[in-house]
Amino acid sequence: MKKASVYVTRMIPQENIDELRKHFDVEVHLEDRGLTKAELKERAKGCHAIISLITDTIDGELLDAVGSQCKIVANYAVGINNFDVAAATKRGVILTNTPGVLDDATATHTFALLLAAARRLVEADNYVRDGKWKGWSPMFFIGMDVDRRTLGIAGMGRIGANVARKARAFDMKIIYSSLHRNPRAEQELGATYVDKETLLKESDFLTLHVPLTPETRHYIGAKELKLMKRTAVLINASRGPVVDENALFQALQEKQIWAAGLDVFENEPEIVPGLAKLDNVVVVPHIASATPETRINMGKIAVNNIVQVLNGQPPETCVNPEVLEN
Ligand code: GLV
Repeated sequence: MKKASVYVTRMIPQENIDELRKHFDVEVHLEDRGLTKAELKERAKGCHAIISLITDTIDGELLDAVGSQCKIVANYAVGINNFDVAAATKRGVILTNTPGVLDDATATHTFALLLAAARRLVEADNYVRDGKWKGWSPMFFIGMDVDRRTLGIAGMGRIGANVARKARAFDMKIIYSSLHRNPRAEQELGATYVDKETLLKESDFLTLHVPLTPETRHYIGAKELKLMKRTAVLINASRGPVVDENALFQALQEKQIWAAGLDVFENEPEIVPGLAKLDNVVVVPHIASATPETRINMGKIAVNNIVQVLNGQPPETCVNPEVLEN
């Protein structure tokens, strides 16, 4: 019998592809660039499952072009803002993501950004590389204290709670604001629930871990930045559009807040002109989950979900479980 076919929109770890090949005919887009929508429509046509990236828009138009034999699109990501969930549900297509396995990597990366911004690591590194260092000096590269400072967390889900856990090593006071209260984070991690205004006003470090939805777009804009401390550091390893990047650029330029550490941007890979030239910002290219173990584990979830669904079983991590009820 002919095997079912899977289209993978970009190379993921080889062991994930090898596992997939044990079950299915697999085609992988091997070039090191994302596919255009037209290319994706053409290349995925006729397949039974897709492994997609956050850069692939999965909407009704795409699913119609691929065909009704396609039963599942497995995102190689925890974020799902590239999915039109309603359109997939309407067509009976199961959508999945990769929650859980990237919490540690993302929270660690959040701390890397926080520490780099607080202690001016990138600026100082450039200083040494540029041959400017003339010897130890008591008054240069003064950064910000982290220990015992207040860490504000917007979004106390799995990743936010993991960041809170790591913050305990620095004895930080943890406050948070979230769509849902997290009693476990309050009891086990000593996090205090506050409203958004208090979060903005009291955080020495504010880190964002909300999903991107119409409600969280520009969660941080000019108004919010004005409420923050002039000594505050903003960290974003969630989704770029959660922050109004133009407003942030202006706030950083005018030293309205002290610094920012950014893993994500509003229109990736574009960055607001001038932002990456500022000294008080650390910018990295959306790499929070980029560790070998994490990336393999993300692939394992995506592959298992496809194996399950194409064998008539429910997937491990379903974004639109209402499809399974039909
Ligand atoms: C990465 O941004 C992800 O959502 O997994």
